[in-house]
Amino acid sequence: MDVTGWAAASAPGKIILFGEHAVVYGEPSLSLAIDRRVRVRAAPDAAATTVNGERLDRHRHAYLDTALRLHWGDGPLKMRTESEVPSASGLGSSAALSVATTGLLLRLGHRPSRPANVAQAAFEVEYETQGAASPNDTTASTAGGAVLLSPEREAAMEPLWQLSRGERSWFAHRVPPPSLSFVIANTGSRARTSEMVAKVRRFVDSDPRGKKILQEIGRVTRDGVDALRSGDAARLGGLMDRNHELLHVLGVDSPVLQKFVEAARKVPGTWGAKLTGAGGGGSLIVLTEKPAGVQRALAGLGADAFPVVPSLRGLEMQP
Ligand code: PMV
Repeated sequence: MDVTGWAAASAPGKIILFGEHAVVYGEPSLSLAIDRRVRVRAAPDAAATTVNGERLDRHRHAYLDTALRLHWGDGPLKMRTESEVPSASGLGSSAALSVATTGLLLRLGHRPSRPANVAQAAFEVEYETQGAASPNDTTASTAGGAVLLSPEREAAMEPLWQLSRGERSWFAHRVPPPSLSFVIANTGSRARTSEMVAKVRRFVDSDPRGKKILQEIGRVTRDGVDALRSGDAARLGGLMDRNHELLHVLGVDSPVLQKFVEAARKVPGTWGAKLTGAGGGGSLIVLTEKPAGVQRALAGLGADAFPVVPSLRGLEMQP
């Protein structure tokens, strides 16, 4: 805590490079922390818990409320939050908020607050608040850099930690982060993650192609790890295109996403483009050596487009 009594933590947003939806069925996913962060500060307060000067509201501040309920028992706090991650855009703003808040609460409560502890505890916050979630977003936000989440321990990869929920467990691994730039474009519309997950469930249960598509996404994700390791942007972009086609067949693309993806691919210097996150709206990511050109093309179509670089910085706490 600093001299004014405030403790602080911050955590990054993320993009899913490969594997969304398939990760729900036990396939791996590969995510990248980005250089946009959520910051949370907290200090003891004599009266009542407040967020940015207002009384904590369990609907408006759902993630903070869950984090306090699960990981805090030491009296009222005044809390302040700031975010550079657009909310409800598939960029992991709620996970970053959960990670920063959980880290801070564990640290203030003198509980174990190593990244492995925070990743598990923040996953519980997301799960409890959303009703369902994989540990993908909270893991990437805690670790920073590039992270492969897999249901198995991957022998040739650097282990980070294990996460669990009931019978299920996941293993997080560190992948060397790429020195590549991406453009993110937010469509401005957003389907609920739970609805998109349910839509995929209906497809998988009723269409014999479903399981094969999920398995192929798993293979694309593993190939993506190879492409990332070798810094092969052209291969990485081709795999992003392929992952997008597979997500399209699963039914989580949208007309706006498709229009933006096609426009981005036409810009010279673009290696690949795909939706990122749950889909049905939300955001797409474009791997390109000409970020300004892609940003212009997408902004011309009405997208909120901005460049991001992968960030090695995961959860950070002061002191
Ligand atoms: O909506 P997002 O960006 O948090 O992505 C959800 C990713 C899914 O695989 C669709 C669901 C999950 O919990 O992994």
